[in-house]
Amino acid sequence: MAAPNPALLHDKQAFIADLVGQMTLAEKIGQLRLISIGPDMPREKIVQEIAAGRIGGTFNSVVHVDNRMMQDAAVKKSRMKIPMFFAYDVVHGHRTIFPIGLGLASSWDMPLVERSARVAAIEASADSLDMTFAPMVDISRDPRWGRTSEGFGEDPYLVSRIARAMVRGYQGPSPARRDSIMASVKHFALYGAVEGGRDYNIVDMSPMRMYQDYLPPYLAAIEAGAGGVMVALNSINGVPASANTWLMQDLLRKEWGFGGVAVSDHGAITELVRHGVARDGREAAKLAIKAGIDMSMADTLYLQELPGLVESGEVSMEEIDRSVRNVLGAKYDMGLFHDPYLRIGAAADDPADLYADSRMHRADAREVARRSMVLLENKNQTLPLRKTATVALVGPLADAPLDMMGSWSAAGKSQSSVTLRRGMAEAMRGKGRLLYAVGANVTDDPQIVEYLNFLNWDDKEVLQDPRPPADMIAEAVAMAKQADVVVAAVGESRGMSHESSSRTRLDIPASQRALLEALKATGKPLVLVLMNGRPLDLQWESANADAMLETWFSGSEGGHAIADVLFGDYNPSGKLPISFPRSIGQIPTYYNHPRVGRPFVEGKPGNYTSQYFEEKNGPLYPFGYGLSYTDFTVSAVSLSSARLERGGRIAARVTVTNTGRRKGETAVQLYIRDEAASVVRPVKELRGFQKVTLEPGESRTLQFDIGEDDLKFFNARLEHVAEPGEFEVQIGLDSQAVQSARFELL
Ligand code: BGC
Repeated sequence: MAAPNPALLHDKQAFIADLVGQMTLAEKIGQLRLISIGPDMPREKIVQEIAAGRIGGTFNSVVHVDNRMMQDAAVKKSRMKIPMFFAYDVVHGHRTIFPIGLGLASSWDMPLVERSARVAAIEASADSLDMTFAPMVDISRDPRWGRTSEGFGEDPYLVSRIARAMVRGYQGPSPARRDSIMASVKHFALYGAVEGGRDYNIVDMSPMRMYQDYLPPYLAAIEAGAGGVMVALNSINGVPASANTWLMQDLLRKEWGFGGVAVSDHGAITELVRHGVARDGREAAKLAIKAGIDMSMADTLYLQELPGLVESGEVSMEEIDRSVRNVLGAKYDMGLFHDPYLRIGAAADDPADLYADSRMHRADAREVARRSMVLLENKNQTLPLRKTATVALVGPLADAPLDMMGSWSAAGKSQSSVTLRRGMAEAMRGKGRLLYAVGANVTDDPQIVEYLNFLNWDDKEVLQDPRPPADMIAEAVAMAKQADVVVAAVGESRGMSHESSSRTRLDIPASQRALLEALKATGKPLVLVLMNGRPLDLQWESANADAMLETWFSGSEGGHAIADVLFGDYNPSGKLPISFPRSIGQIPTYYNHPRVGRPFVEGKPGNYTSQYFEEKNGPLYPFGYGLSYTDFTVSAVSLSSARLERGGRIAARVTVTNTGRRKGETAVQLYIRDEAASVVRPVKELRGFQKVTLEPGESRTLQFDIGEDDLKFFNARLEHVAEPGEFEVQIGLDSQAVQSARFELL
């Protein structure tokens, strides 16, 4: 009788080799298939397929009853009795929705980021899931790209730190634990660099830049133990990632030693034909399996084509076995051979109400959300607000529970979102007065409305207020006139920052801008609460708003968290993980750009320097920037030595002081500038940060240790080296406001 041999369970390699030895070619190919379970799919058909050994795992099925039925089919009805695994996009929370990636990154708080992933894993595993397609660690420097929202920003160091924290959170001490899920880092590789920020476009990039800037986060996730990799949809220097043997074999397997499972993105193998590198489906399947795509997601090509390809000898049995071993290895690592029902549990224990609040982690979500917000402006200390005030709350995002969740909000339900309106009302109850008017639709552009409606397949996302815009504005203005202060919640709807939602403009849509202009004309203090999934062009807003809080899409507890910040119950500490350009024409605007021969010099806007002559140069808000309700100063940098020996370390110290009147927290950032090297190096690079909380008047000395490793980069031969010479250490509160000192590497 063919089946996994429990006597070999203690030895992963022997166990899997024994299993593979018993499998037919058809059963092997079945393991390489990852199928999306849609709500309307006939259950009997799925069970039949699984029992016949034609499916290795599923995604998009998050209900115990369904997953148990499928697992029963696999382990009780199929010949080989190999368990299935159940995957899902658990990207920023599961039932409890945390802030989107950019928000998590804005916290610069690794234990907090890890906690968000841990909670997501606890909830997802309790819903019978074994694997997530996350973390998404694509570096993005072009905010036109809609998936910028999902990632953690522009900086390889920060994103790598977050990648590690997320993997630790999802997988816990081991992906085999009942309350852990396996992480599959995505999208391998370079998806964030699609040309022009247009989704699915090509990526053409020098190897040096790949190694230096774009690849480190994937490697960090793998080093942290991510059991899976999802392969990107884009091509890389002419070869689609899904057919790219250099990427999948030379880099991922040989150079990085990845031993887990590689899954394609949705339909990516079929798309090889449209990329124009495969004549037909047969050739696409051949290219993908040879490159090392272990599992095909949501297409039928492996099922249809691999048998013939093996028979003709074009694909060897060893190539099939290699992928089968990776899939079975991942299942082993998820603990499924020890117990296929590890996360499914017994029917008697199934939750009565999947959406019960008791299954959620609201306190965690609120804590993470309030730490994810970035105070961009606060003129004349407009914030914090008094709870006893009369506040006019306006804007299409003030009471928008679905938008609040952001895109890829997994099993989150909009009914569980606390909107800003609710959060403020609760905070002000019995104290002040909260007036509310919607004021404008997110957009009135019919083409965009149609697009957003198209994206919205399971909820009514874009509910347009049918009133004439002028009437809506008039209502809001009348309300503003009765108030002490106006809070306007404006930005993007969640569908505007999503997969395939690339934009050609970064401004706040015209309908909302018109509202803001009318509110400004009332002369009342104007506080903007921004909700958006990418850096926006905020030139008008920064000039006209009295205060501006970037809240991203802040999740299930967003309304409470924003109210905490607006009323000063929490003093904001978030810092931008991505630069905000002044205009779309400045893109790419990233702080760590390579040096040039004629750099623009502030205050000397002369000709023949690298600049745009029509507007001020540099970002509107730099990387690392974020205000607080208190003030901090950073002292001059003192170095323990002006010379660093190979293998040694020097200490860089600064004293940070809270010079304001409130307790506050800030992220103190360490940048390094390589003064001269064998290749052009960035103007500076983040190499460390520390979060510090200080009482009013309190000072603390922070120490950053710098070693040779912190000075390393990839040279023209792609060797990771630290070259001798001078370096500048910069320490400060953002990428521009820094103190500096120099040392020499011997
Ligand atoms: C996305 C992936 C996602 C997959 C499965 C694709 O469209 O690019 O990020 O994991 O769908 O839902």
